[in-house]
Amino acid sequence: MKKLIGIAAVSGAMLLALTGCASGGSAASEGPKPLDELVVGFAQVGAESGWRTANTKDIQASFEEAGIELKFSDAQQKQENQIKAIRSYIQQQVDVIAFSPVVETGWDAVLNEAKAAGIPVVLTDRAVDSQDDSLYVSFLGSDFVEEGEKAGQWVLDEYADASEPVQIIQLEGTTGAAPAIDRAEGFAEVISANPNLEVVASQTGDFTRAGGKQVTEALLKSNPDVDLIYAHNDDMGLGAIEAIEAAGLEPGVDIKIVTVDAVKDGMQALADGKINFIVECSPLLGAQLVDIVKQINDGETPEKRIITEETTFTQEEAIEALPTRQY
Ligand code: AHR
Repeated sequence: MKKLIGIAAVSGAMLLALTGCASGGSAASEGPKPLDELVVGFAQVGAESGWRTANTKDIQASFEEAGIELKFSDAQQKQENQIKAIRSYIQQQVDVIAFSPVVETGWDAVLNEAKAAGIPVVLTDRAVDSQDDSLYVSFLGSDFVEEGEKAGQWVLDEYADASEPVQIIQLEGTTGAAPAIDRAEGFAEVISANPNLEVVASQTGDFTRAGGKQVTEALLKSNPDVDLIYAHNDDMGLGAIEAIEAAGLEPGVDIKIVTVDAVKDGMQALADGKINFIVECSPLLGAQLVDIVKQINDGETPEKRIITEETTFTQEEAIEALPTRQY
């Protein structure tokens, strides 16, 4: 028994040492720093959408309010720029690195560098696809598969009585990005319950309004009988509206539209009847990210996965929510 307790104590000590090393930070070794001495490096994806702009503003405002210095970089949707930014934060020996990975794969090398430097990493908004979950301390963001499922459920209900095939065009987010992969997966899974629901075309619009417009213009030509567009974000849905109107059709009526995000412009289009349903994805992650940074600074272990609470909106609900919508 004594021997067992001894082994447990040694393993515990080793684990502590390892955790201290992995989460680095001065907190474990020297105690918490005053907040005005903390420095956080944030590597943002870009400014591709209304969602992203709201997310950036919220994060910057939350750190300012907390009195914590935030170094901010915009990767313009390029993974190599994000990797460069993270490397520069490592060089500058910031206390915590946070980032929203533009795509899921290809992060192990740079995250191992952060780990070796003893700098804890927090993922916000998007996940990385890695076998090694010790490369980040916490992942704060939405459940994108669930968002896709909610969109799929609305389509399933809307066409429950359809006896003929329903043609769907999917406007995908950035290729390889977690929300593009997961929203497609959740949607496909749910609509598979009705064999009449058919995705006849699926292409990336890179989460931008221009991309959504361009792809819809092209796809309407090859799929003139399309019934519904499922866009992985509001901006691409708003681009699709422009393309549908330019083709002399009525968005929301001739072609139904379902999107994800619920930013103000999207909600306005829903209130106007040009979009039919929106699944919310909240960009307001700043306050929770500040909390995680404070926990790390205090030597606490933040929850590994923190899922954002979100809802869905019909036209009536959008009309009601719009006057107080924050973003
Ligand atoms: O990762 C979140 C997604 O990224 C948002 O849904 C989209 O608008 C943004 O570009």
